[in-house]
Amino acid sequence: MRSNHYFSVFCILFISLLFFSCSGKQGGKDSVDSKVNALLSQMTLDEKIGQMCQIDPGAIGGQEKMEEAVREGQCGSVLNLFGAREVNAIQAIAVKESRLGIPLIIGRDVIHGYRTVFPIPLAMASSWDPDVVREAFRISSVEASSQGIRWTFAPMIDITWDPRWGRIAESCGEDPYLASALASAMVEGIQGDSLNDPTSLAACAKHFAGYGFSEGGRDYNTTYISEPVLRNVVLKPFKAAKEAGAQTFMSAFNDLNGVPASANDFTIRQILRKEWGFDGFVVSDWGSVEELISHGYAENEKDAASKAINAGVEMEMVSRTYSDNIKQLLDEKKISMAQIDEAVSNILRVKYRLGLFDNPYADTAAEDLLSASSLAHARKTARESAVLLKNSDKTLPLSKKINSVAVIGPLADAPRDQMGTWCFDGREENSVTPLTAIREMIGMNRVKYVEALEYSRDKDTKYFRKAVDAARAADAVIFFAGEEWSLSGEGQCRGEISLPGAQSELISLLASTGRPLIVVVMAGRPLAIAKELADADALLYAWHGGTMAGPALADLIFGDESPSGKLPVTFVKGAGQIPFYYYRKNTGRPASAKSWTPIDSISRDNQQTSLGYRSSQLDYGYTPLLPFGFGLSYTTFEYSDLTLSSESLSDGGTLTASATITNTGDMAADEVVQCYVRDRVGSITRPVKELKGFQRIHLEKGEKATVEFVITPENLSFFNGTTTVTEPGHFDLWIAPDSESGLHGEFSFK
Ligand code: GLC
Repeated sequence: MRSNHYFSVFCILFISLLFFSCSGKQGGKDSVDSKVNALLSQMTLDEKIGQMCQIDPGAIGGQEKMEEAVREGQCGSVLNLFGAREVNAIQAIAVKESRLGIPLIIGRDVIHGYRTVFPIPLAMASSWDPDVVREAFRISSVEASSQGIRWTFAPMIDITWDPRWGRIAESCGEDPYLASALASAMVEGIQGDSLNDPTSLAACAKHFAGYGFSEGGRDYNTTYISEPVLRNVVLKPFKAAKEAGAQTFMSAFNDLNGVPASANDFTIRQILRKEWGFDGFVVSDWGSVEELISHGYAENEKDAASKAINAGVEMEMVSRTYSDNIKQLLDEKKISMAQIDEAVSNILRVKYRLGLFDNPYADTAAEDLLSASSLAHARKTARESAVLLKNSDKTLPLSKKINSVAVIGPLADAPRDQMGTWCFDGREENSVTPLTAIREMIGMNRVKYVEALEYSRDKDTKYFRKAVDAARAADAVIFFAGEEWSLSGEGQCRGEISLPGAQSELISLLASTGRPLIVVVMAGRPLAIAKELADADALLYAWHGGTMAGPALADLIFGDESPSGKLPVTFVKGAGQIPFYYYRKNTGRPASAKSWTPIDSISRDNQQTSLGYRSSQLDYGYTPLLPFGFGLSYTTFEYSDLTLSSESLSDGGTLTASATITNTGDMAADEVVQCYVRDRVGSITRPVKELKGFQRIHLEKGEKATVEFVITPENLSFFNGTTTVTEPGHFDLWIAPDSESGLHGEFSFK
């Protein structure tokens, strides 16, 4: 009897432990769903519609209108509220004065930092360091949550092949594998270890889907994307974000193959919901439901609301088609009550998971903005994000004992510009610029500063003489080039992607002085910098590096650390090469050195057939300026001993590829080792190369390490237009420092 008693006690304890243990990441599903269902059953139709509406204080007509909507239960979320006090005030109205006291979910674009601003996402992608990126987003969420924000419209994980598109700045670049790894890290950083932790925010994978393929690099433009490209490229990071537990998705502005993304039931209901099993909620992008009218996809607001709801868009950001039309649509049976209940349930589920019903207010005591550790991490992230593109004769690093340095250029002391786009809550007074940091590092009296150009687009050359004189008198010249922050980001696209203003002209003049010329580029996109690359002795691509860009660059320029970034996008020679991405198809007529005649070498009496008939351009040729994955170091790395565990891979098996990496230079440094694979023949044509793995390793001077990549059949799978498949055949494999070089091996899949 006694043993039975103990056994039943054990069972009770075990079951209750099991129940509470599953209240981890997303709250016990059953307990949350039972709460959702109980609350839903009490809600009026008006209150349900309210939950599906997100309002912006400005757009709805001001504070009073917002408070009235919240008090009446006509609002489920507010975005763009500033400060914990304001959030707590409006939350108190929701919780204490509305009939059911359903808390608001407060959203904000915390894209690459709140008050501590990290490098723009494209820069963070250049670090190829998911751990550093995860921590950056964790810090951003801790800062933002102390202000009452519990939902951020990040990560932005649109793949793009077009540097003219301003929003490339917010992206993780051109590659689905790298973007997927970073998407997971960003979601994990944003949502933390447990969603109901007060410092956790709901992530929002955006913009679903295809926005980065806007034709001509013009924002909001039409996209045509085949299903293989959609599934093999565009959707990969979104799948990763969903697998990482992203609680919300944002539908995009763009027309996707004739059906706008914010009314696209194929991507939302078929892929996101049915195939991926997503159980959070989908919010439209700003006004994108109402814009269905402008697209010519909806007759009017009622039709727009109907199409968006039927496609599965559950919360409408800012435009008011849902609040104005859902009742009539229900009466006309254009939408169903089941759809409304599903949408509201998904929204309530996220609110419960975040713990908002128990803990709706910002903990202002938790405010810890710009902490020393946060700034230190921002500095580390900015260091790892910078990419060394040229370093002739070891121009860099400079000695800290150098007698004099001329610091020149419009981005040397531009605290707002260095924070980049989508930086709502960063403050330029917190930015430490390169000029400040260099002065601090080597002393004011050894730094001669000449701005020369007031801003990146400045064409006034009146200070060029002064700049050249300063260069001539210095032991080294550092020119800080680039773009103002407002030349990239949403709605800020460029047709030409050269350095703006008269910067290039000044760089040439500085080069002609013969003094060692270091060019540091701070921009929101990969610029066409062929000329500047030729003029400079060394070139460091620092992107818009955030609050601590200055100290990070000083650390690199003066050798406290070696640059270790690698390009997450291809650098083109000019806009005329766009689109250019490394995982291109081979075509029936691939170009090569022997098939291309540079335009200026074409003889005057060349014949129609004399130019090789290959896939290239007379002026730009067939290679980019710099390849995806490229990045130099202050040291050198030798790749050797590529070994494959087997010559063939079979279903259910794995194949391990390894190589030895040796630091053959005279400085410790990180190296991002990359693994690429090529499927030589497929049921649809396959890319010439695809990234299948990467590892950032640290090697002391003379140290070597063996790096391993495990390849599985699933790694080789692709959507062939009909199904996702791994096809038998022969494969190439590289372990490499970038997408154009490295050690080559081959294997077969049977
Ligand atoms: C925008 C952007 C989106 C952002 C939203 C809220 O127009 O497209 O990325 O999250 O509005 O600011």
